[in-house]
Amino acid sequence: MNDAERQTDAAAQLSLLHRPRRNRKSEWARRLVRENALDVSDLIWPLFLIDGADRREPVPSMPGVCRYSVDAAVEAVAQAAALGIPAVALFPYTDPDLRDERATAALDPENLVCCACQAIKRAVPDIGLITDVALDPYTSHGHDGLLVGDEIVNDATVAVLARQAVVQARAGADIIAPSDMMDGRVEAIRKALDAEGFENVQIMSYAAKYASAFYGPFRDAIGTAKTLKGDKRTYQMDPANSDEALREVALDLEQGADMVMVKPGMPYLDVVRRVVDAYRAPTFAYQVSGEYAMITAAAQNGWIDGERAMLESLLGFKRAGAAGVLTYFAVRAAQALQERA
Ligand code: PBG
Repeated sequence: MNDAERQTDAAAQLSLLHRPRRNRKSEWARRLVRENALDVSDLIWPLFLIDGADRREPVPSMPGVCRYSVDAAVEAVAQAAALGIPAVALFPYTDPDLRDERATAALDPENLVCCACQAIKRAVPDIGLITDVALDPYTSHGHDGLLVGDEIVNDATVAVLARQAVVQARAGADIIAPSDMMDGRVEAIRKALDAEGFENVQIMSYAAKYASAFYGPFRDAIGTAKTLKGDKRTYQMDPANSDEALREVALDLEQGADMVMVKPGMPYLDVVRRVVDAYRAPTFAYQVSGEYAMITAAAQNGWIDGERAMLESLLGFKRAGAAGVLTYFAVRAAQALQERA
């Protein structure tokens, strides 16, 4: 007997009661025991807006992602709706001339986001419209709040955010998504919406949003990468913490959040799972720009299979317990799911 034969012989004598591989022996068997599945209903598509007409301007650090003028966005959203994507999230690239210290343009009922909401509502009434409440696309310094001296002031910012939410609801937003991480903003937004008759507008709070290096390409896309003074660590969470995420989520749910979010996604799947287990509230994860860029860049280099990595990464969010995922892959993932169905 040679070595290989001796090994086969030894193996033949094993009498194993448990052979987990039996349930993996063929595709039908794997399908039978599959615990989680990704569905088009899990996908929220974030998209970037820019002024002008008939524009689709590529974002270099996010290959495959564009900034859309409002008319082009309407077309893109119609395509997303046709694929069955339930909701889109809008982020504006604001003309630098319109940005100022006080984020004045955030309250302009004719700003890019509001115009896009109106146009999309008219043309694609059945898709959910999520708008971002935060001041960074509108401030000259790129922070999510108002800067006084070297402090991002909380309460004065919250007052502006509540007004911003009402402006967006008037334009047709279905879900207000505050991403600013100021304290007390969910309650202030809820009260302001209710006072204006928008009690059916939902709030999806970015409850556990971390001060992350993975937002880099997003800041390119909305044009804050170069203007941002300092960092956001006095309001976004420390990546070292997860108990704190539970406290943040608890506060937002108490204040009336209908849904909560954890952001970024892949490096924080443990937080997603803890939040889901602790509160059983609809919990979303944001697969952010840097995550998209990493997967896309590796795929473009031929280092990974892009489509498989995309679907595997999205399934990971479902396994962690997320109700859905904000992902720049939404349209491509929806197409891939359709092709596989
Ligand atoms: C800011 C905001 C950010 C993202 C969404 N809203 C970035 C930041 O906090 O600087 C990041 C999204 C992404 O990276 O895809 N209000």
